[in-house]
Amino acid sequence: MNPKFTKLSVTTEFEVYGSENDLNSHEQSLLKKAQLSMKNAYAPYSNFLVGAAILLENGEIVVGNNQENAAYPSGLCAERVAIFHASAIHPGVPVTAIAVCCKASGSVIETPVPPCGACRQVIAEYETKYDSPIRIIMQGEKGKVYASNNIEALLPLMFNRKYLK
Ligand code: THU
Repeated sequence: MNPKFTKLSVTTEFEVYGSENDLNSHEQSLLKKAQLSMKNAYAPYSNFLVGAAILLENGEIVVGNNQENAAYPSGLCAERVAIFHASAIHPGVPVTAIAVCCKASGSVIETPVPPCGACRQVIAEYETKYDSPIRIIMQGEKGKVYASNNIEALLPLMFNRKYLK
């Protein structure tokens, strides 16, 4: 055996909470804002409602929800609606945290739903832009909450603006 490669092993860890009640009060209220925002999702095609709430370094909270379209790819996820909204109205202010939750028709989601790959990439952009970690808090409709202190845990080996220098 003479392998010409070594192995790079990437491990990620998440905090797991039994419910939102185990989060600190600031994070509970951020998640609550995501839940409220979820009610305004426009998701007539998937009937899968997603809400997101962004906490900025200046204490402002900006929300978003998924916005679908008859031309399916023209819609946008809640996380990106929220983070682009935040950047549009508070340019230059670092993002501290994002809380995300969702609700499907027909079943109660009790497993935290993580952001899709494209949303992870966008969260990574703002983390790199401000060189400041973004805490990610995820829940389904109810039950367990997962949290991580940065996007690295969800997007190991990420491509980011540092490669473009
Ligand atoms: N969706 C989000 O809003 N965030 C995600 O991270 C995953 C998916 C939305 C997109 C679409 O409106 C619906 O959920 C079903 O995919």
